[in-house]
Amino acid sequence: MQLNPEVLQKLTNILGESYIFTDQETRNHYGQDETEDYVFPPNVVVKPANAQEISAILKIANEYKIPTTPIGARTGLSGGALSVYEGIGLSTERLNKILDIDEQNLQVTVEPAVITQVLREAVAEKGLFYPPDPSSQGSCWIGGNVAENAGGSRAVKYGVTKDYVLNLEVVLPNGEIIWTGANTLKNSTGYNLTQLMVGSEGTLGVITKIVMKLLPKVSHNVLMLVPFYKASQACEAVSAIFRAGIIPSALEFMERDAIDWTLKYNHDISVTVKDEVQAHLLIEVDGNYPDILMQEAEKIMEVVEQFEIDEVLFADTEDQKNALWKMRRSVAEAVKANSVYKEEDTVVPRYNLPELLGGIKRIGAKYGFKSVCYGHAGDGNLHVNIIKGDMTDDNWQTQVPLGIREIFELTVSLKGTLSGEHGIGFVQKNYMDIAFTKTHLEIMSRIKSVFDHNNILNPGKIFPDEF
Ligand code: LAC
Ligand code: ZN
Repeated sequence: MQLNPEVLQKLTNILGESYIFTDQETRNHYGQDETEDYVFPPNVVVKPANAQEISAILKIANEYKIPTTPIGARTGLSGGALSVYEGIGLSTERLNKILDIDEQNLQVTVEPAVITQVLREAVAEKGLFYPPDPSSQGSCWIGGNVAENAGGSRAVKYGVTKDYVLNLEVVLPNGEIIWTGANTLKNSTGYNLTQLMVGSEGTLGVITKIVMKLLPKVSHNVLMLVPFYKASQACEAVSAIFRAGIIPSALEFMERDAIDWTLKYNHDISVTVKDEVQAHLLIEVDGNYPDILMQEAEKIMEVVEQFEIDEVLFADTEDQKNALWKMRRSVAEAVKANSVYKEEDTVVPRYNLPELLGGIKRIGAKYGFKSVCYGHAGDGNLHVNIIKGDMTDDNWQTQVPLGIREIFELTVSLKGTLSGEHGIGFVQKNYMDIAFTKTHLEIMSRIKSVFDHNNILNPGKIFPDEF
């Protein structure tokens, strides 16, 4: 599809020559994110300066019925930012300021293209804490975190992005600009449009300002790495820790291969893993009172010692803590560097985790694929990486989707769902029938059309091709 020259001229009138791009290189660059190796270039990339320009662009998109895809940092893992129907790629990159840190109310107002870690560090300088910490926090943007309802390792104690979003400025697909709610911690006033926008994957509006709540900074933490001889027991230990009365600030699971591949990929991290070890839990507790943290760590030790474990590593310097976290955060990149792969983002109630892991391995054996699993075990959120390895292209294309379908069926039968934090986007949409009936999908589809009658905003996402 070629964009009508009249449309290009109208867009240029809004943006000026410097912020509109039709060259192949720019289009390819904005046509990919971190999702496998997909490339879907838009016909034109636009870089508006503010909500008013976004509004003017969306009015034109509506008039000419042009698919328009909001694009953030392109770190997503479900293809939410891919321009699957070409059209306009709308990069929010120029909306990149922290507008206000309200120290009286513990709130921050931020534009979407601020890097999550930059936001976390800026509020930390004021003694405040923004907990959500996706592994890509060094490169992902807060707007994408809101659009996908991103999680991260601290979610187990502190919640995910949605738990911090109080109010949003959004440009609706018809070009209207609204605030969705109020800057309050409580709000029982009408339908909750703020939370409807959170996790809507850029299909209902373009987020241009975000008001988030903050917490006071937490001063201390204890981090431990527990090696298990059996991966199933590592999963069993997860719910046992909570039952012992502890809420860790992180409780991460990594299968053996996840660690091995990461150490191979990152030569500067040194962790020794004995041959017999099958999986690790990385467990953190945090708080302001070191004595209490030590007691909690001892309690955790009592729990994990009931399983077959090797010697527990306590990180006693900041450097060692940083190295362990770097290892955990690099798993996704290490897996990607190692093989063609597909990543699923399963989530179940945490007690069902051992059954999920066992089932995934059984299904892999049935369809002939290997999987490497890791993730936020405390949340029951397991990232399942299906590895192509030396599978034939034919089996990769025909057998793997059947296996993924079975994994999702298992997930749902265990009272879980398809995605805990990566979103449905482009790659998971044709599995939505497993989690939802036709009635559910029709309700969602009607909500979509209330906002976006002409289906111009991020089409081809979330909804299955047929339902
Ligand atoms: C992680 C990303 C892939 O947990 O969600 O590392
Ligand atoms: Zn994750």
